[in-house]
Amino acid sequence: MPNHPTSPAAKLRAVRGMNDILPDEARKWHRVESVFRSTAELYGYGELRTPIIEDTALFVRQVGETTDVVEKEMYSFERHGDQLTVRPEGTAGAARAYVEHGVAAKEPITRWYYLGPMFRGERPAKGRYRQFYQAGCELYGDPGPVCDAEMIELAMRVLRGLGINALTVHVNSLGSAGTRERYRAALLQHFTPLAAELSEDSRRRLEKNPLRILDSKDPKDRAAAAAAPSILEVLDDADREHFAAVRAALDALHIEHIVDPKLVRGLDYYTRTLFEIKAEAADLGAQSTVCGGGRYDEMVEGLGGPKTPAIGFAMGLERILVAMGADVAATRPASVYVAAMGRPAIAAALEIASGLRSGGIPCEVDARDAKLKSMLKRADASGAAYCLIIGEDELSRGAFTVKDLAARAQWEVARAEVVPFLAGRAGPAASEAPR
Ligand code: HAM
Repeated sequence: MPNHPTSPAAKLRAVRGMNDILPDEARKWHRVESVFRSTAELYGYGELRTPIIEDTALFVRQVGETTDVVEKEMYSFERHGDQLTVRPEGTAGAARAYVEHGVAAKEPITRWYYLGPMFRGERPAKGRYRQFYQAGCELYGDPGPVCDAEMIELAMRVLRGLGINALTVHVNSLGSAGTRERYRAALLQHFTPLAAELSEDSRRRLEKNPLRILDSKDPKDRAAAAAAPSILEVLDDADREHFAAVRAALDALHIEHIVDPKLVRGLDYYTRTLFEIKAEAADLGAQSTVCGGGRYDEMVEGLGGPKTPAIGFAMGLERILVAMGADVAATRPASVYVAAMGRPAIAAALEIASGLRSGGIPCEVDARDAKLKSMLKRADASGAAYCLIIGEDELSRGAFTVKDLAARAQWEVARAEVVPFLAGRAGPAASEAPR
């Protein structure tokens, strides 16, 4: 029986497919986020923050009515008469902001990155969640093909910078509008005689969006999709040239890549270049795509802006963390556990702790007035690097004991010297040491 939140005995739990990230785990996230941010800044990207909730129509129109995301996965609701959706992805909201702020008129090329939670009601599995985090980049104003290759290079630099090296890059081209129309006709011709064998979803989508059948995970659709014609056969000359130039630029960047003509991705807004980066981490199973992206040259105009080419990608942070494996070095700042015994010592401890923090040294005060043994035990368990012991004796001598909890060494340090003494060991300069 599912928990019922109104029953007093029911234990409330996190929503299925949504995870808590506790501080030790969050430190690993900080590392991923900081490598992503600094890499994006290296390529001239600036951070964009948009609301997590947008008008439902934004996703229905841009992501596409017949996609799984829109048909089955969105968290949508009505409030104050507005139809709203908790964002399933970041590209549509970024383009909405680009148009809303008239950015095209202000700068010829715009480079934005974002980091944040996305929401899709998918079936939860390892690497697939209902709230998950994406780090994404979007570039407006350049039709490529060189920037397409640089975009892939940026994503690869982030992943390699995090120590993920077993990666494969898959690329394809969906062509421009005319090509996609021709391809739609070719797919319709291919799938119509096979309709009876297709899944229910695919039969329903056949007329409107046969491209989606290529992306279907349903085993019923796989055989029919495998025999479908390749889009590369119907690309027009300009599309073909664009795709060849993307591949040449990837070669110039020494990025090996696999052309996958059946790669269509699950969102309807793509035009021309498409790509996915897969990690070979065994733990990821079917969720090995750590990054997906592509060109979407029609979205800005579709949102009422000027005709503006665009390209972008997003990476799944949970999947990146799995691919990084268990030994992600989480750095934890060396901290000081202040153990005070007796009321006057507690008052002194508060003042000293305040001084330590002003000096950038993380610390916590044990003001339970407990026995030294119990405080030392807690100090060890807290993960602190040092314990500063303040008792009545120490107070009257004006010197405290500093214990190195790992090395089991200890020193007697004059009250006025405590902050400089610990600053050299646990202060900002020393705090990046892995523990
Ligand atoms: P997407 O392929 O839907 O593309 O998602 C990008 C990445 O987000 C995936 O490759 C995966 O790593 C991660 N991801 C997606 N769904 C989940 C999930 N349920 N649980 C965990 N991770 C997930 C987009 O969202 C596009 N907006 C990318 C883009 C940006 N295209 C152009 N610009």
